[in-house]
Amino acid sequence: MAGHHRRAAVLCGIGTWLPPRVVTNADLARQLDTSDEWIRTRTGIRERRVIDRGMSTSVLAVEAGARALKSSGSSEVDLVVVATTTPDHPCPSTAPEVAHRLGLTGVAAFDLNAVCAGFVYALATAAGHIAAGSAERVLVIGADTFTTVLNPLDRTTLAIFGDGAGAVVLRAGTPDEPGALGPFDLGADGSNADLLIVPAGGSEQRGSGEPLDPADVHFRMDGQPVFRNAVTRMSESAVKVLDRAGWRVEDVDRFACHQANARIISAVARDLAVPQERFVLNVDRVGNTVAASIPLVLADAAAAGDIEPGHRVLVTSFGAGLGWGSTVLTWPELDLG
Ligand code: ACO
Repeated sequence: MAGHHRRAAVLCGIGTWLPPRVVTNADLARQLDTSDEWIRTRTGIRERRVIDRGMSTSVLAVEAGARALKSSGSSEVDLVVVATTTPDHPCPSTAPEVAHRLGLTGVAAFDLNAVCAGFVYALATAAGHIAAGSAERVLVIGADTFTTVLNPLDRTTLAIFGDGAGAVVLRAGTPDEPGALGPFDLGADGSNADLLIVPAGGSEQRGSGEPLDPADVHFRMDGQPVFRNAVTRMSESAVKVLDRAGWRVEDVDRFACHQANARIISAVARDLAVPQERFVLNVDRVGNTVAASIPLVLADAAAAGDIEPGHRVLVTSFGAGLGWGSTVLTWPELDLG
């Protein structure tokens, strides 16, 4: 079927915000039994940002959201989606307050939790609303303060995660214009839910009648199976989305993977037989920022000229759940602020 009457979601604005406090590997090594050398060689991370007292996910989300709206040239949207696993409160969701603080009181707003795959899931959700005609413009924010759920004694997770936010504006357009989001591939595997988990704080723990184990309020991760799943799931999802888009792997100018570990990204490049140079990277400066990772790496690469208008870009992400997701787009001209 010719797609002349089909609506597509088109990327028309992008913005990011990082809390100002930098925590270097050397800073971590002063508090814990770790070293700059270990963290750099095992993960590629040199530093990450951490919120200061008084900040929360909504603060980061509002800053990134305001920049994305400005970049899009209009502050009018009819839906706000905040992808986050670290909402300000268990109830209510963070998006209504974020929308209110952006001057969007009354606009539909909700949170979406798909952990590190959250931003791609949120893009797919927003694109679905636009395709169905239930929204014309959507603000999609990925924001997390994952350092707030880390165990202060766990050197492995403290080394990996950082706080941040990134946002995009999607508008209704046509599938053939630059910025149009292509097909999506989304997937999940709940049989491995316990590989990355915050055991307490939810209904299971509260309903158990058991006393709270204080360690269970923190995130825990079984690193090696997560590493292997990350490589396999992102590689397979990339192949599936390329197939749906009718692109060959060599048609892709830039790959933007979830930034969790530079070695995971190298392994995906090897699996796909693509030169490493086509993979954009900012994990060295921000670590794993969970739902913020994809918009942060896209915005950083665009600002650095590493992603240019006209580039064919493949986005792929993976995280707790397990969950993963991919999409493609041709990079549009954007106001990068
Ligand atoms: N500093 C020094 N040593 C450390 C540190 C540290 N920060 N962390 C772990 N080690 C030690 C371990 O204790 C272990 O010591 P041992 O051999 O004496 O037992 C040794 O280093 C090797 O540990 P491994 O776990 O085998 O190290 P590995 O090379 O697998 O790297 C890592 C660990 C970085 C966590 C890796 O497994 C990884 O990146 N996993 C994927 C994480 C990920 O992608 N998460 C993304 C999803 S997150 C989400 O969705 C919320």
